[in-house]
Amino acid sequence: MARRSVATLDGGTWQATAMADRDSRSGKSYLTEEISSYASQVHASHDAAAEQAFAAPTSHGMPAIMLGPLEAKFLTVCMHMIGAEKVVEVGTLAGYSAIMLARGMAPSGKVWTVAFDPTHAEIARSNIAAAGYGDRIEVLVGPALEVLPTLEAHGPFDAVFIDADKENYPGYGDWSTANLRSGGLLLADNAFVFGGLMSDTAAGQNMRRFHENTAAHYHSTCVPTPDGMVMAVKK
Ligand code: DHB
Ligand code: MG
Repeated sequence: MARRSVATLDGGTWQATAMADRDSRSGKSYLTEEISSYASQVHASHDAAAEQAFAAPTSHGMPAIMLGPLEAKFLTVCMHMIGAEKVVEVGTLAGYSAIMLARGMAPSGKVWTVAFDPTHAEIARSNIAAAGYGDRIEVLVGPALEVLPTLEAHGPFDAVFIDADKENYPGYGDWSTANLRSGGLLLADNAFVFGGLMSDTAAGQNMRRFHENTAAHYHSTCVPTPDGMVMAVKK
């Protein structure tokens, strides 16, 4: 039986509510592999450069934890929506999401993306160059909480996309709140922490802290992608 009640940061509680039905409003998803494949083909089919970056984790023995094509195209559409010029990404992997962010931006735009692993950063740089963004996406290497402060002189930023180690989301969120412009967009993948959001593990508690801090400082929602995507506009 699932836990029914969990303490929130503001001293309140989150209460599980009895579901009147099991339809899409209460969380049921109609996303099958077939539907996902069709929608991806229609809206987010890969050209050679996108496919190279998408396939790179698998072909280079990296963890294959990149976004799905529909989520990546969601980033592109978000950048178009806000006319983003200056964007920070936390968690580069092989560069697929950085490329998809850049594709929604004007040629004058720039993405700074932070990779923890120098080997991953090198693979990302080669995918980014192959996609034609070598001069518009800069890959920085190191622990993001140390690298992000070095970017502050370029801010305030139009958008931040967080998709890195889940335990540090509260810290990445605080940095974003301090360095996004008013009206800037915060996006964060894995907001359901692989299903563990309501657990009493550190991962669940940290991610709930991130959600609740975000709700306090932004016009926020959580898009119910397979693992949740926080989407929030800074007040
Ligand atoms: C993992 C990380 C991610 O960012 C993701 O989207 C999926 C999985 C992971 O660490 O396993
Ligand atoms: Mg992710």
